[in-house]
Amino acid sequence: MGLSTKNALRFSLLCLFTSATATNTRKPVQLSLSGHIDQSEVYSFVYVSFEVEEGVTSISVVQDYALKGNGSSLDLGLFDQRGVEVPNSFGQFGTRGWSGGKRNNFTITPAWATPGYNPGPISPGTWNVVLGPYESTAKGIDWTLEIAMGFDPVNATFTPTYAPTNMDPICNGCTEAEEFTWQRGDFHMHTIYSDGKYTPEEQVAIGQSRDLSFVFLSDHNTDTSNQIAGSAQAAYAPDLLVGRAIEVTTRYGHWQAVGLDREQVIDWRYKPGDKPGFAEAAEQVRRAGGFVSVNHPFAECPACNWSLGWESNDAVEVWNGPWDSTDEQAVQLWQKMLVEGKRITAIGGSDSHAPPSVNGLPTSVVKGRGRSQAAIVEGVKAGRVYLVQGPGMDIAFEVVPKSLVAPAQIGDRLSAKMKDARFSAEGLAGQRMCLISDQGYIYNASIVDHKEIQHAVPSGAKFIRAEVRNSTSDEVLALTNPVWFL
Ligand SMILES: *[C@@H]1O[C@H](CO)[C@@H](O)[C@H](O)[C@H]1NC(C)=O
Ligand SMILES: *[C@@H]1O[C@H](CO)[C@@H](O)[C@H](O)[C@H]1NC(C)=O
Ligand SMILES: *[C@@H]1O[C@H](CO)[C@@H](O)[C@H](O)[C@H]1NC(C)=O
Ligand SMILES: *[C@@H]1O[C@H](CO)[C@@H](O)[C@H](O)[C@H]1NC(C)=O
Ligand SMILES: *[C@@H]1O[C@H](CO)[C@@H](O)[C@H](O)[C@H]1NC(C)=O
Ligand SMILES: *[C@@H]1O[C@H](CO)[C@@H](O)[C@H](O)[C@H]1NC(C)=O
Repeated sequence: MGLSTKNALRFSLLCLFTSATATNTRKPVQLSLSGHIDQSEVYSFVYVSFEVEEGVTSISVVQDYALKGNGSSLDLGLFDQRGVEVPNSFGQFGTRGWSGGKRNNFTITPAWATPGYNPGPISPGTWNVVLGPYESTAKGIDWTLEIAMGFDPVNATFTPTYAPTNMDPICNGCTEAEEFTWQRGDFHMHTIYSDGKYTPEEQVAIGQSRDLSFVFLSDHNTDTSNQIAGSAQAAYAPDLLVGRAIEVTTRYGHWQAVGLDREQVIDWRYKPGDKPGFAEAAEQVRRAGGFVSVNHPFAECPACNWSLGWESNDAVEVWNGPWDSTDEQAVQLWQKMLVEGKRITAIGGSDSHAPPSVNGLPTSVVKGRGRSQAAIVEGVKAGRVYLVQGPGMDIAFEVVPKSLVAPAQIGDRLSAKMKDARFSAEGLAGQRMCLISDQGYIYNASIVDHKEIQHAVPSGAKFIRAEVRNSTSDEVLALTNPVWFL
């Protein structure tokens, strides 16, 4: 997106009061703005600028519009005096909060802000409310914004409490001798800091209770839950690694920016073919040491399916919440990419927002050296991941050469000619195990708990992976990434 999509400000200034007094607390400045967005502007972003004077210590915005919930919806966010331009080469830009269609109002102050908005110093200059038309009737959207700016003395300033991203002090800068372990977690969940009903405290407590070693809070287009995750982690889930992520919510699909730096927010305002666009945003995630995953590529909600291409991602969320036909489509697309030789890692995400949905359904199990955000990211990039539906279920999968070479695990590459795939499981008795190569399904067998299933890998196979499917419904209960053959 360039400035070309920055719409001309088409609003009328209804009234503007400012009053300076001799005392140290001035009366609030009130602005009433209104305007019209044409139906043709759906999926663009409309910026409404306003001036913030020296001395302002709070900004409150209330949005209203016609036909809300009856054919119109208008997202809401804020950009501060840094402007609305695309991020600079360090990835910094003026975003100050985003609530999508979840809220019609917010307040920011130096000490606190409405969840989804960043508290902190309020600098004078030109700020912008961003309106995001998501759907509209032929009538377009008539909107109003009531903006109040206060001058109350500042008594406190916000300090983020980030969760530590390395839970094993012994593994700080892991040494070669450090052991790899399989760690259970979830990459995708929401809180009240975007459109979830769970608090961050509830999400981390649920993760801990469901036998997870790590969770990533991932609110829509905001880092504000990551900024307070440390207090939730310390109080409710001291044994859980809480990593930093954002669900980057574009109009052309959603993607997961996982393993972010502190204060890192990723731009979401581009369409297919834009430069800078998705590729540059993805590069900023990787530069900070994170990975990029396409979320629920076939989700059926408007603007939720993936249309930004497959060149810039490390992973794909093939299993989003309880298994359904859109996950089946995602696995088929992933298999097609594997056959073409694209090494994209399959991950899962619960996408849990509110009860009764819970995180850890599905669970992603990642092989990492030590328990840190960096180790989890590295494991995903290397394809060392398998998925299970939830607690009580586990699998083991490896390929054992008939020579003296060591067995290859998920994500590894093996060059031996003669080899066997070896599978075992717990909590999955009676279900169907399937082996899949680039030729498709090559072997199915019924699972007996703790009893190994062994099958020769056909010669010439490019890779082999395993699925566990419900023997009555055919739903996936577990799935591995491939072991690759040279
Ligand atoms: C939609 O319009 C109908 C009929 O005018 C009205 O009864 C209903 O309350 C409106 N819904 C919302 C969410 O405003
Ligand atoms: C502001 O948002 C809150 C929470 O969504 C809501 O309860 C409240 O009514 C809103 N206030 C106004 C003035 O619309
Ligand atoms: C700071 O404290 C004073 C006195 O307690 C109070 O009137 C004022 O509203 C507070 N300012 C803010 C920004 O909360
Ligand atoms: C995504 O869905 C829209 C309709 O909602 C459709 O027009 C578009 O072709 C879909 N994109 C892809 C890549 O499937
Ligand atoms: C193996 O299981 C898969 C997945 O359920 C199914 O599509 C395939 O037809 C099965 N193959 C055989 C030979 O039964
Ligand atoms: C397998 O599918 C059947 C039929 O839909 C269902 O009753 C059962 O609970 C499923 N089993 C698991 C482990 O999900």
